[in-house]
Order: sequence, then structure tokens, then C-alpha cells
Amino acid sequence: VMAEEKELSYKEAIEKASSSITRFPLIHIRGVPLMCHIANNWDSIWAFRPDPSDLLIATYPKAGTTWTQEIIDLLLHNGDAEACKRAPTPVRSPFLEICSPPPIPSGLDLLNKMNPPRLIKTHLPFQLVPLGFWENKCKAIYVARNAKDNLVSYYYFDLMNKTQPEPGPFDGYIHKFMRGELPWGSWYDHVKGYWVERKEKNILYLFYEDMKENPRREVERIMRYLDLSVSDDVINRIVELTSFKSMKENPMANYSCIPSPVFDQSISPFMRKGEVGDWKNHFTPEQSKMFDEDYEKQMKDVNIPFRSLI
Ligand code: PPS
Repeated sequence: VMAEEKELSYKEAIEKASSSITRFPLIHIRGVPLMCHIANNWDSIWAFRPDPSDLLIATYPKAGTTWTQEIIDLLLHNGDAEACKRAPTPVRSPFLEICSPPPIPSGLDLLNKMNPPRLIKTHLPFQLVPLGFWENKCKAIYVARNAKDNLVSYYYFDLMNKTQPEPGPFDGYIHKFMRGELPWGSWYDHVKGYWVERKEKNILYLFYEDMKENPRREVERIMRYLDLSVSDDVINRIVELTSFKSMKENPMANYSCIPSPVFDQSISPFMRKGEVGDWKNHFTPEQSKMFDEDYEKQMKDVNIPFRSLI
């Protein structure tokens, strides 16, 4: 009698795929550079039909996705810390478009095994989000982070994430960011795309800096948007459980589920610093001036209240 093949855990699946992990080239989909595995599966991603009860959490990479996913999962579980340690973040809240070499399950594989309501992560810019989300009037939360801190965080992530292009020297990286050449494209188009649609599509638009400044206020804002009601004690607990320190120590939230051939956290931890204004430690005054001048041009058509210091 053949032993039934044991289903691989997420971590085991990634370990098995280690030898096929490289810094994957980017392929443009409607002008947006995406990892080749995502671009090569684009038709199935674009065709995804969510359930009306599904919830979308959309961000430009490194804007506070994981933090917000944890807050929402805890709100949906009335602050039950153990329930929210049932699996690592990318299994509890699948990443819609992610596709990697087999046997790593894709975001769609994970979603297809779950029952709605599902908490779905995406980094896709607004125009690439499958239309079913808006046709089904799904709730959607967008988190934006000021450009300079977002860039610094992405730079360290690209050093340690062995599936994305080499970041190269920091100065060149600033220019790639300004030109929208990093995976998932232009930060400027991303934050603007959701901003202009937020009222029409009932998107809750949050800022990383507001979450740092007053996490309780932002947790309550998310709670109201989701039509949930939890006690003050539970809110306090959620704020505590989603502090940077708690999440850094939480193996189900700190991405230790992704082994070092993919995320080499000895180069830079996923939970790196978690602060507002770290860009000041990385941009020279000249780089900052040049960046700000370009920023004015790229952002002149909108008035999004970003704060790069609090
Ligand atoms: S990803 O890969 O796009 O999903 O990354 P994402 O989760 O969006 O962003 C990672 C950055 O968010 C910081 N982070 C936090 N900051 C404050 N509080 C909490 N709880 C928290 N959790 C994650 C994380 O440290 C990354 O930012 P940097 O500036 O690199 O530290």
C-alpha cells in the first residue's frame, strides 16, 4: 500500500523549490514591470473572481501590508492571538498575484482552497486589480507610505529578497524608483491610482504614518469600515499584538516562514526598523533635494496628505 503523499507545508514547499530560485527578470504587463512568473500567469490572475464578502488589502510593496493584514485578522478574530497564529501571514491572507516555481503554491492556489470571506493581499496598481473586486463591491483597504521611507524599506527588501532584481547602489536605486522601474512599477502612479478612485469604489485609504502616530485610532477606523464592533479591551490588545516589537517576535507574522534562499533575513530582517523618517539616515541632502523636485512634478495633479516625518 502506497503511503499517502503528505501535503507540504508552505515552508517545505519553498525549501523544495530552492534550487529554482533566482532573481527573476521583470516583464511588463500593460506597462507595469512584474516578476516574470506573475506576468506569465497574468490571464488567470486577471480572471480571478472574488466573492462579495472578500476583503482586499492593497499596497505598494513595503508600505505596511503585513502590519495591516495582522490588524485585520485580529479584528476578524476578536483579538484572539492564538487563532491568528494558526498559519503564517501569506497562508492566512494570500497574496493574489504571487506565482513562484513549483511546488510553491501560488496566491490563486491558496485562495482556491479557502472559503470566503478571504483577506486578499495585492500590490497590483489600481488598473490591474481584477474587475470582479469592484463589480462585486468588495471592501478594499489601501495603505500608503511616504515615498522616501517606502523607497528605503524597498531597497533593504530587494537586498534580502532573492527573487527580485538586485537593487544595486542606493543612488541608482533612487532613480529606478523615480522612473517606476521596480517590481510593481511606479510608486507615484500607485498611490494616485487608488486615491482618485477611493470615493467611487469605497476604498478605505490609510497612511502608514497615521498608524505609527496613533495606532488605536487607525485600528478603530478599520473596525468601523469593516462594520465590526469589538470591546475597548480587545482594541488595546490588538494594538499591543501589532506593535513592531510584537510582530518582529511573532513567527507567524515575521516571515520566518520563508527560508533563507528566498528571504535572507541575515542580510536585512523583514521586520527591519518600522519607523517614520528613517530616510534621513539614507538620503544625502543633495539626493533629497533632487528627489523632492522630481516629486513635485510627479505629484502636482493630486493633493495626497503624505507626511515624511511625524
Ligand atoms: S511587503 O513585503 O510589501 O508585504 O512589506 P510590507 O509589510 O508592506 O512592509 C514592510 C515594512 O513595514 C514595517 N512593519 C511595521 N512597521 C510598524 N509596525 C509594525 N507592526 C510593522 N510591521 C511591519 C516593516 O518593518 C517594513 O518597514 P521597514 O521600514 O523596512 O522597517
